[in-house]
Amino acid sequence: MAAKPRLLVTRNFPPNVMARLRRDYAAITNDEDRILEPAEVLALSQDVDAILCAGTEKFSREVIEALPENIRIIATYSVGYDHLDAAAAAEKGITLSNTPDVLTDATADIALLCLLGAARMAHSSAQTLRSGQWSSWAANQFLGVHVTGKRLGILGMGRIGQAVARRAMGFNMQIHYHNRRPVDVPGLEAAIYHKTTDSLLGVCDFLSINCGLSAKTKYLINDENIAKMPDNAVIVNTARGGIIEDAALIRALKSGKIAAAGLDVFENEPHLNPDYLDLDTLFVLPHIGSATVETRDAMGNMCLDNLDAFFADRPLISEIKT
Ligand code: DGY
Repeated sequence: MAAKPRLLVTRNFPPNVMARLRRDYAAITNDEDRILEPAEVLALSQDVDAILCAGTEKFSREVIEALPENIRIIATYSVGYDHLDAAAAAEKGITLSNTPDVLTDATADIALLCLLGAARMAHSSAQTLRSGQWSSWAANQFLGVHVTGKRLGILGMGRIGQAVARRAMGFNMQIHYHNRRPVDVPGLEAAIYHKTTDSLLGVCDFLSINCGLSAKTKYLINDENIAKMPDNAVIVNTARGGIIEDAALIRALKSGKIAAAGLDVFENEPHLNPDYLDLDTLFVLPHIGSATVETRDAMGNMCLDNLDAFFADRPLISEIKT
């Protein structure tokens, strides 16, 4: 029997995934689930063929270049791959894979939770109740932003953007979007395409960010671009921290230019900018877009399907191409 491929597993993934990988690979695991420093990843990579990582491990150009030659593939347990320098990996002949599709619905659900949570003051109303401060129903208390009939601008109309659009149409929102190209998919014929972000921002009563983080989208939502949005707009981000410049959003929430924000991701995770904490109009979650049992299992199985395919010389299900 051929020897099992050797795999460094940087985080503790769901039990079904760990059982499968322990069965099929000679695995080095991180049972404490501590986030490994790049130097530790490099040290643990010396005698393995592949790495299974998450978005918490940063494979910069420097790290990729320092990896030993025995590393042939890195499978990331995420759809986003801004933590992997894909160009450096390609130059070094390292294959990369990710986990698209399987987390689309879970993430789109959280986008709607953030949208509604922000629009309807879910944080401050629940907080008032939980702290024993709620004294009675009052006509002028916890007033949110109405959703029905409003324009939702979606930045990035890939799988998750489309799933957000479908859900929002159930709330009778009008869908606008910006994407590299218009999409032509059943059910979204009424969605209005904007060729530029400027044009989109101008109509966003609500903005949902569903694009990847890249040099082009870094700090796209900054003071200048927030100023282009209608007053009292609501901003939702379930994509990546860093697409929004948090200091700019905090200024806009404080001034009232932006009525509310719903964030599942933010800069410098896990450390939330403390200036957000004074804001009743922020609904924030700790990056739980894909956090359902079913989705997290499916992500792990997709990583392992990709690794199995790689070691069997079959095409990968989801290879990251530069
Ligand atoms: C992803 O897959 O990119 C998410 O951010 C992790 O859940």
